[in-house]
This record gives sequence, structure tokens and C-alpha cells, in this order.
Amino acid sequence: MDPECSPRRLLVTGGAGFIGANFVHYWLARYPADRVVVIDLLTYAGNRASLAAIEEHPGFRFVQGDIRDQALVERLLREEAIDILVHFAAESHVDRSIAGPDAFIDTNILGTHALLKAARAVWLAGDAPLPGHRFHHVSTDEVYGSLGQSDPAFSETTAYAPNSPYSASKAASDHLVRAYHHTYGLNTTISNCSNNYGPYQFPEKLIPLCILNLLEGKPLPLYGDGRNIRDWLYVEDHCHGIERILERGRVGETYNIGGDNERTNLQVVETLCGVMDTLRPEDAPHARHIRFVKDRPGHDRRYAIAADKLEYELDYTPMHRFEEALATTIHWYISHETWWRPILNGEYREWVGSHYGSGCAASPG
Ligand code: NAD
Ligand code: TYD
Repeated sequence: MDPECSPRRLLVTGGAGFIGANFVHYWLARYPADRVVVIDLLTYAGNRASLAAIEEHPGFRFVQGDIRDQALVERLLREEAIDILVHFAAESHVDRSIAGPDAFIDTNILGTHALLKAARAVWLAGDAPLPGHRFHHVSTDEVYGSLGQSDPAFSETTAYAPNSPYSASKAASDHLVRAYHHTYGLNTTISNCSNNYGPYQFPEKLIPLCILNLLEGKPLPLYGDGRNIRDWLYVEDHCHGIERILERGRVGETYNIGGDNERTNLQVVETLCGVMDTLRPEDAPHARHIRFVKDRPGHDRRYAIAADKLEYELDYTPMHRFEEALATTIHWYISHETWWRPILNGEYREWVGSHYGSGCAASPG
């Protein structure tokens, strides 16, 4: 994106979460003259500490608030003269959606709809729609369902077939975004991306969970036979893909973002163990901590992304190699204990205790 176009005025929902926080850092590092307003409810997954490094940035503002609060969102869009809304806020963990789907319906479907209504009310009001506005919706490859071993990767035209309450709620939100473009002319784009990893990820997801458990000598729980496949994308590459879509993506379109990195869960965890073996040879082999545990109900077998549209149309390629970026991620967690140690208290311990049983959680120290 051309820095000459700055200053732009962004509203980032869920900016205290994993990908949202990385996006805010990415954006303000490249476009320091831009205005970035974050709205985040600070649920268990939101963490103000993830934004500490840019709290003093003159273009940054944090608002603790709910995306379902349409009046608040309308007020922010007006008072900050926002022209780009990037929507990350969501309930995002599949296992929690299985344990309690209601929050996923409320946040992911009703929350997205409240944002769409606010954007429509402010940007498309009366005879003077705001030219150049953009509503970018961040979604997931999980809306496409599960692939067999030799099936072709998901493309933007793959039929939706979500299997978990999480992916079903994201699918519903994608459909609402699409409908607001076709029906009301809202300038929308959607990205469906694969599994992210990197700094600031809440340690309920596979990679940070296993990193923290490795650091503490705890078990590494692999569901089922450990051979489910995901495509892994370094979070900075995801931010880069979204930047490209905001810059040159065609309104009304969907773009898949992938890492070109299909791995079984067992391969991912073995790679983590290999890095730890070199960092802490006295504790090797770390793979002895791997435990195969009861499978996730309805566990999707394989996700894979065909990202040709983004690559050819918007000249995007992921920059990071999996093994290197995974090592970078491990180093980040090792050097940011002050970020993750406080998370291990309270709610997190309850979740890990109820989901895995005792003994699987890294300790709060
Ligand atoms: P996350 O769970 O780390 O963060 C979600 C953030 O949203 C938190 O800061 C939370 O406080 C906030 N939030 C939740 N409900 C809210 C509400 N009602 N109002 C305001 N804020 C609220 O999630 P993430 O991993 O950063 O994912 C961000 C987006 O990317 C989600 O939409 C997710 O579906 C999508 N996505 C994630 C991945 C992944 O691998 N993590 C992959 C593909 C797509
Ligand atoms: P996760 O990080 O929860 O992302 P998603 O479910 O959105 O893909 O899980 C990634 C893969 O790792 C998925 O196949 C489930 C598996 N998994 C485990 O085997 N053990 C775990 O403890 C977790 C959290 C996930």
C-alpha cells in the first residue's frame, strides 16, 4: 500500500487478540501517519499487553467495547471519520465452540451483523455514501469443511460445508458480509485463511499450547492419531495478505490466504520438539512428552488452501518458511514470559483442567 495515500483511518475490531494485535503492529510500523482505533471487549482471549508497544503511538486509540453495541460502533465510525474497518473480533477456538456454542453465535454472527448495520448506517447514509470506504472481514478456511487426503485444496469457489459450531458461525458471518455488499452496496472484502501461528497467540491453540508445555515439561496432547492436517501461515504473512487486499482487492470479492505449508499435527509437534532439543539438549528428547488423547468430536481431517487468486491477482506470496518461523515463534515465547505467565492463572487453568484434565497445563509459577 502506498504510504503516500496516508493518512488512512482504520477501525480494527478484536485488535487485542492474536491476529488483530499483530495486524495493528504491522500496520503502524508501515504507515505511522495512519490512525488506528481498536475496539475490543477484552474477553479471555483479548490482552491489552499485546498492544503495549504502541499504546503511546500518536495515531493509536484503544476502546474497550463490544462489537454487538451498534450505537458505539456508529459513534466511533463518525467521530474518528473511519474509512477502513478490519474485522477480526470473534470467538475463535473450535474446542470452546463444542463445549459452549452460544457465545459463537452471539459474537460471530450477531456481532458481525451489528458491525455491518453500523457501517451501512454511517457510510451509506442518505445520498452521500462515503466513497472509498471498506469493510474487510477476516474469516477462516474452516468454512469449507474437511478434505480427504487427495482432494484438491480449497479455492474461493469451494462450497461451504462447515462442521463445527465455530466454523458454522464464521460461515454465517461471511454470508452476511456478502449479502450487505450485494444488497446494499457496502464495499466489502473477505479473506479466508489457514491456521496462523506467531507471537501473542493465546495458549489454547495447538502451537502456543505445546510451546508453553514444552517449556514446563508438561504433556503435549495430540488429538486422535495426530495425523489431521492443517495449513500453517505465519501471522505476519497473514497481515501482509490483508494489506494487499485492502490495497488492491476488488470489492465484493473473497480471497483465500494460505501458507503453502500442509503438516500433520504430529509433524508440527515433532518440529517444535526438534527446535527445543537444540535449545535445551539437557532435556532432549522432548518428543517423549507427546501424548495421544481423546479425539475432538467432528474433528476435520484436512485443510489445504489454494491461494492462487491472491498470488496472481494481488501479487502476494507468503515470505516465511515454516521451520524458521516456528523457531522464531518459540524464541518469542521464551523471551516474553512476562506476556504469557499471567495468562496461566484463573480462566485458562479452568479451561485446561476441564478440557484436558489436570497435569496438562503449564503452571502460573
Ligand atoms: P483471538 O481469539 O486471539 O482474538 C479475538 C479477539 O476478539 C479478542 O481480543 C477478544 O477480546 C475480541 N472479542 C471477542 N468478542 C468480542 C466482542 N463481542 N466485541 C469486541 N471484541 C471481541 O482470535 P484470533 O486468532 O486473533 O482470530 C482473529 C480472527 O481471525 C477471527 O475472526 C478468526 O475467526 C480468524 N481466523 C483465525 C485463525 C487462527 O489461526 N487464529 C485462522 C483463520 C481465521
Ligand atoms: P487449533 O490450534 O485448535 O486450531 P483449529 O482447530 O482451528 O485448526 O488446532 C490445530 C490442530 O491441532 C487441530 O487439528 C486440532 C489439533 N489439536 C490437538 O491435537 N491437540 C490440542 O490440544 C489442540 C488445541 C489442537
